[in-house]
Amino acid sequence: MRLFTTLFCAAVAASLCAKPEAFTVGKGTFLLNGEPFIVKAAEVHYPRIPEPYWEHRIQMCKALGMNTICIYVFWNFHERAPGDFDFSGNADVAKFCRLAQKHGMYVIVRPGPYVCAEWEMGGLPWWLLKKEDIRLRTNDPYYLERVGLFLKRLGRELAPLQLARGGNIIMVQVENEYGAYAADKSHVSNIRDLVRAAGFTDVPLFQCDWTSTFKRNGLDDLLWTLNFGTGADIDGQFRALKEARPDTPLMCSEYWSGWFDHWGRKHETRSADVMVKGIGDMLDRNISFSLYMTHGGTTFGWWGGANNPAYSAMCSSYDYDAPINEAGHVTPKYEKLRALLQKHAKAPLPEPPAPPPVVTVPTFALDRAVSLFDTLPAPKSTEAIRPMEAFDQGWGAILYTTELPRAAKKGETLAIDEVHDWAQVFADGNLLARLDRRKKEFAFTLPADLPAGTKLDILVEAMGRVNFGGSIHDRKGITNQVKLGNDVLTGWQVFNLPPEHAFVAAKAAKPGAHPSGPAYWVGAFDLDKVGDTFLDMRDWGKGMVWVNGIALGRFWEIGPQQTLFLPGCWLKKGRNEVIVLDLKGPRATTLRGLDKPILDQLRGNLSDTHRKPGQALDLAGETPALETALKAAGGWQNLAFAAPAKGRHLCIEVRSTQRPGPVAIAEIELLGPDGKPLPREDWRATYADSEETRSGNATADKVYDLQESTFWQTTPDAKAPHAIVLDLGTETQATGIRILPRAEKGAPGQPKDVRIFLKTTPFKL
Ligand code: GLA
Ligand code: CA
Repeated sequence: MRLFTTLFCAAVAASLCAKPEAFTVGKGTFLLNGEPFIVKAAEVHYPRIPEPYWEHRIQMCKALGMNTICIYVFWNFHERAPGDFDFSGNADVAKFCRLAQKHGMYVIVRPGPYVCAEWEMGGLPWWLLKKEDIRLRTNDPYYLERVGLFLKRLGRELAPLQLARGGNIIMVQVENEYGAYAADKSHVSNIRDLVRAAGFTDVPLFQCDWTSTFKRNGLDDLLWTLNFGTGADIDGQFRALKEARPDTPLMCSEYWSGWFDHWGRKHETRSADVMVKGIGDMLDRNISFSLYMTHGGTTFGWWGGANNPAYSAMCSSYDYDAPINEAGHVTPKYEKLRALLQKHAKAPLPEPPAPPPVVTVPTFALDRAVSLFDTLPAPKSTEAIRPMEAFDQGWGAILYTTELPRAAKKGETLAIDEVHDWAQVFADGNLLARLDRRKKEFAFTLPADLPAGTKLDILVEAMGRVNFGGSIHDRKGITNQVKLGNDVLTGWQVFNLPPEHAFVAAKAAKPGAHPSGPAYWVGAFDLDKVGDTFLDMRDWGKGMVWVNGIALGRFWEIGPQQTLFLPGCWLKKGRNEVIVLDLKGPRATTLRGLDKPILDQLRGNLSDTHRKPGQALDLAGETPALETALKAAGGWQNLAFAAPAKGRHLCIEVRSTQRPGPVAIAEIELLGPDGKPLPREDWRATYADSEETRSGNATADKVYDLQESTFWQTTPDAKAPHAIVLDLGTETQATGIRILPRAEKGAPGQPKDVRIFLKTTPFKL
């Protein structure tokens, strides 16, 4: 009888059972209208899907067997200048929620204000950095004031859509993985209060963290959920939470289906079978989940973020190896997951809707062009170098120009402190050097003598602002100063080159021009049938593409992404206009549209491994700061040195593992004199005897990338002992070390016997 009533009510909910539904937290389970309810949420991001495709993607999630859509709200997408709010078009988040409701889907809202998400500055607006001493994600009064204003405005859009008020929003998140950033309950409390003050008072509020960090900031009155990825040991992940809160409903608020791609690094994938098994294990245990990402989509325009350390900007594609691919198509992962979710569903799942049509576009020429240097805007003057933000520019490229005050000798050093993020240096128009922040290239030696008065141009392209860790305070352009030898250069002219279409569209490109170096290229193609296509960028260097006025995204020849997703809903029958800004310069000035993406082609000498041919670490005669055996257990292990040690070069030697097989380490922290972890922003891997690069991105730098789900791993055939060497950037005092093994069941690859060395001079290689 009760089942009948529920079905009946569900069927006529909209019309007859007008009483709003209720979503509450019960003992060990969520409750929907008083009945146990497992949240099966699909994470998708509305700015990463063209607005005309929103409904299609929601239906895809529904047909997959999900009952909820989980979204972040991207503050910087809505407030591009202080107080200037936009909730229209692709930013109409309320419309997105209502479309989900139309298809019977609940919504979880994660309004940040910080969201991470491989999104520019983790969703925080760049203009916050105009305040020079701002401390983001703290109780800095200006930060809290701006957060409050934004959330209040967001509340006008979304608070009326809470379930109890007739909408479909069932949960709202407070901050995002704050435990991975700081320990400060007062800050999380402040954000919670601002979320409530914005009107989110009728839904359970929750905070998400990692199993290793959730206690740091756990507030008594918030629900706690955990994030972890494909392959993780589910019982192990929830053990500590169950102990801390035996009656809480369990939820994995981010179960990572795949992973994101960085420029210059191997395309990431995760096994479909392992992913589906994890979801099955959760369902068997009545654990709710949100699948991050169920559909990743595309980080259009300039919205891609970056990780640090090492600085590493995100690709434009956010395919994520998710069940629904970048263009909204079913994948084998989708089919496997759907089969599982069908087993757990009460009724047959609807069929997935057909994807939007795909077209190819024959090769066409970008036959008009203009050199970037021939179409500069009016300059601003500044004595000292200042970052982009100081000139009221958020994104794009920036040109700094001055004249050499004296003659410079071949072999002298020109040091740019620091390049954020990719610079080209020209002397009287001739290219001298290219500097890449990913490789910490901040200086070069002059290839020739230069006379006094030489015109020096430094063109800096901003890639994404860092979206994770303390480096989110990531100012762009040149952050500090430029030095020729010991002389700080002054007297600069600064040209702002923003990425908005209005700026690039005003460039007077000329037919038949063929500039070399940085230039705008303009062309068009005709269509008699519109459809999705993938722009083939393989002949182009590095830059950004606009089609019919919309910024599609960044391209970079190094890959792994070689095509840009061009949604058919932004195309039209007849003429379509294309602009390419190529800062490096193309090999051919044509484009075409393919019917498939290319997301996995790395090019050039891009090896991210840390062992040069012939190198072998020689530890003979070195004295370890610590020689010990780790316990056979998952999670962090703290190891104290016998006596405090000092040095800049750290070596971790793994002499044996707990079980046969390759060595793996997920994260390492050094403990300072106060016993607290030391900052890792300046760390750099200088050596690893073995690294797995065939089946993964498992290089040595993954032990300090702040991500607990990524790890250094040796190749299967390499024999212990294994070692990695890190340059810490500065002389450091340490009293111990913490080591985290992989998160999978049994902590695969966990070291047993280790020796740790810390010394002032580099190791013998
Ligand atoms: C964390 C963050 C997400 C995202 C994922 C990785 O869990 O909360 O925003 O960055 O990592 O994709
Ligand atoms: Ca890691």
